[in-house]
Amino acid sequence: MTRNSDDETSPEARLGDATRVVQAGRRPEWTAGIVNPPVWRASTILYDTIADLRANGHGDTHHRLYYGRRGTPTQWSLADALTSLEPGAEATFLYPSGVAAIAAALLSVLSPGDELLLVDSAYDPTRGQAMQLLKRFGVTTRFYDPLIGAGIEQLIGPATKAIFLESPGSLTFEVQDLPAIVAVAKRHGLTTMLDNTWATPLFFPAIEKGIDLTILAATKYVVGHSDVMLGSVTAAPGHYAALRDVSYQLGQVTSPDDAWLGSRGLRTMAVRLAQHQKSALAIAQWLSTRPEVAQVLHPALPSCPGHDYWVRDFKGSSGLFSFVLNGGNEAARAALIDALDHFGIGYSWGGFESLAIPADPARIRTAAPRDYAGPLVRLQIGLEDPDDLIADLDRGLAAFRARA
Ligand SMILES: Cc1ncc(COP(=O)(O)O)c(C=O)c1O
Repeated sequence: MTRNSDDETSPEARLGDATRVVQAGRRPEWTAGIVNPPVWRASTILYDTIADLRANGHGDTHHRLYYGRRGTPTQWSLADALTSLEPGAEATFLYPSGVAAIAAALLSVLSPGDELLLVDSAYDPTRGQAMQLLKRFGVTTRFYDPLIGAGIEQLIGPATKAIFLESPGSLTFEVQDLPAIVAVAKRHGLTTMLDNTWATPLFFPAIEKGIDLTILAATKYVVGHSDVMLGSVTAAPGHYAALRDVSYQLGQVTSPDDAWLGSRGLRTMAVRLAQHQKSALAIAQWLSTRPEVAQVLHPALPSCPGHDYWVRDFKGSSGLFSFVLNGGNEAARAALIDALDHFGIGYSWGGFESLAIPADPARIRTAAPRDYAGPLVRLQIGLEDPDDLIADLDRGLAAFRARA
């Protein structure tokens, strides 16, 4: 088990983000002098005697070689690193994707007859898990407005067991009043789970803020290079055992090669995030001056719903945001995106390269649909020179004007 040695008073807790990600998880017994923990591949682990085999298989096998599915130092090192980035956390479990991590978090808490409160701005496959997988197992879901804040108390009934948050929502970017929702959850004994992929623990240390299970699609900023699928759940004290047990029962294991790539990506996450933040802000501000743009949905700009909560609670902003076109239609939006040379058209985000996709929240939202002045475009701002990206968007907006 990856107990967290960080606390408010430890010297580690006072280190800067770049130092923390460089040092995290590199225990001498897992590295043997090698800088980044190497790849330990395994299925079978051999024992000297039957007595050794029997003795090893019992109890908590964390950080003890037992069988490949329980991991090797490669996976333990990344899990340990992610735990240490969350002051106050108990431990982390790794998954082969962000979606697998979300499923494990939900299944570790919910049982037949329970109700889940799920934010209406959640990533669509999270909604899919609630409406299909959980429904088949007798769990009901109520969607709530991301801006509900303390008003969530009115939705709590006798069957409510957990609240799922995603802040900001990864298409429409409403920032939630997390402290208010956490306070209500604690009063009612509910478990809170947060998809913290956008902020990462560097910009929002979720466990310290009272969240019980914090989830990363590590595919995005941890990996950082658009070449690996990876997920994680980090648990507050008292929430890890159920998560670990359900993950073992589901046979969840992340390959050592993928964990190693995650660990390699993590070393540069702080400097990458700093650049994503700077470039995305410059581009968001430029877009907000353009007549073709009705609204920029970037949490660090006042035009984004919940911006004041971002100012109060977050330490930074990352590279993903949306903007709303001033009128126009599907064809004009497609002309804009198709005209871009430096933005790939594709799903995911958090890599070194910029991406642009159409975003259509109206197709998904049920509890709190919003009226926008025109179609939405979502941008992932990569590590290219922001001036090149701005010149590209300028061309795109000209193509939009020609079709609108
Ligand atoms: C906010 C958010 N959460 C979770 C996921 C799922 O992660 P993965 O693609 O690793 O399954 C994504 C993927 O795009 C996402 O955007």
